[in-house]
Amino acid sequence: MNRCLSGLVGILFVSISLVSCQTDEEIKRQRYITEGILIFKNNCANCHQDKGQGVASLYPPIAGSDYLRDKKSVICLIRYGQQGKIVVNGKVYNRPMPAQPQLSDLEVAELITYMYNEWGGETKLTNVKDVTPILNACKK
Ligand code: HEC
Repeated sequence: MNRCLSGLVGILFVSISLVSCQTDEEIKRQRYITEGILIFKNNCANCHQDKGQGVASLYPPIAGSDYLRDKKSVICLIRYGQQGKIVVNGKVYNRPMPAQPQLSDLEVAELITYMYNEWGGETKLTNVKDVTPILNACKK
């Protein structure tokens, strides 16, 4: 084998071992994000827009929203909707957000993982195991 070829084989070997070194958690995070993007497009982007930027004073932004700091409230708000005044980044919004009971616990977890990785500065998984007890606690 010439040097060039053995170099290539070396690079291939290193990249294969890098890929297989990904933890189960990381693989799951990426799967959740992929699903989360679709769920967001199909259920949320109508109002909050594809890039989460919101619409004027009608629909608050999710990208850069200080409301994301309270993850439990966000999880509950997705399942049960939200009525009355809320303040997002110092701006008042006051329109009802419809409940999203069609989304399963897993879908909420996928959505949360996507939103927080895309807009909340996180690089981690929000597992459905952690979302279910929160949803049960805020059951209406
Ligand atoms: C029919 C339009 C509509 C849809 C669809 C919708 N929302 Fe909302 N959303 C709103 C409105 C309006 C508010 C503000 C509620 C208020 O004023 O009390 C809001 C508030 C929020 C907030 C808290 C404030 C902020 O911007 O950070 C989050 C987070 C949120 N929505 C996420 C979602 C997610 C995720 C989905 C999809 C599952 C979704 N919304 C679907 C209209 C919508």
